[in-house]
Amino acid sequence: MRKITIAIDGYSSCGKSTLAKALASHLHYTYADSGAMYRCITLYALRKGVIKDGSFLPEEIIKLLPEIKLSFEFNPATKSSDTFLNGENVEKDIRLMIVSENVSRVSAIHEGRVHMIAIQRELGKNRGIVMDGRDIGSNVFPDAELKIFMTSDIEIRTQRRYDECISKGQHVSYGDVKLNLIHRDYEDTHRKENPLVQAKDAVVLDNSDLTREQQLEFVVNLVHDLRIPQD
Ligand code: DC
Repeated sequence: MRKITIAIDGYSSCGKSTLAKALASHLHYTYADSGAMYRCITLYALRKGVIKDGSFLPEEIIKLLPEIKLSFEFNPATKSSDTFLNGENVEKDIRLMIVSENVSRVSAIHEGRVHMIAIQRELGKNRGIVMDGRDIGSNVFPDAELKIFMTSDIEIRTQRRYDECISKGQHVSYGDVKLNLIHRDYEDTHRKENPLVQAKDAVVLDNSDLTREQQLEFVVNLVHDLRIPQD
């Protein structure tokens, strides 16, 4: 079957990356996590002390962009790709709460978005990719053959993210995780540039009451319904 582009967008902690990884593995496609890229800029800025004690200087973050080299490598243990920042595996560090607390503001910086979107388009230029994020169907790949817009109940999303943080040994409270998600939803949908919006041709997937298997089946059926011709 000819390879296509699949865009999965939606609110924070809806399970986008879980579904995107499973789908990419099922179709033998590349999986790309665009949120991880914005998290890398945020982590780098935190490490450089450019984001500190609530102070945030976009001009200083822009100056750091040329120093940031991103790459992705398949990890056979997790059967998914890990994110590398200047050669260091930062898959764990980019998920820290301090990064989550600052990433929305960082992702709103115009120059950072231009830089990241160019990398995302390069990754997807040969199709055969499942990319998840906020503006993938609406902006990065407007011609994607399949666009999914994911949503889920806020309590379910909070519980999922809270469990994920705890399983990684992070000390967080349920309330803080919930507030962070509400805050990020607001920031992501209200920013000026490439906000989270449902693309007109996206299929909505509310997974509040769906298992992972049911979600995968739903999307695989959508791919089959596209009746993509053979090469
Ligand atoms: O999917 P995530 O939670 O790892 O994303 C982290 C942040 O990055 C999210 O709060 C919004 C931003 N983001 C974005 O602006 N555009 C994307 N395509 C992906 C993520």
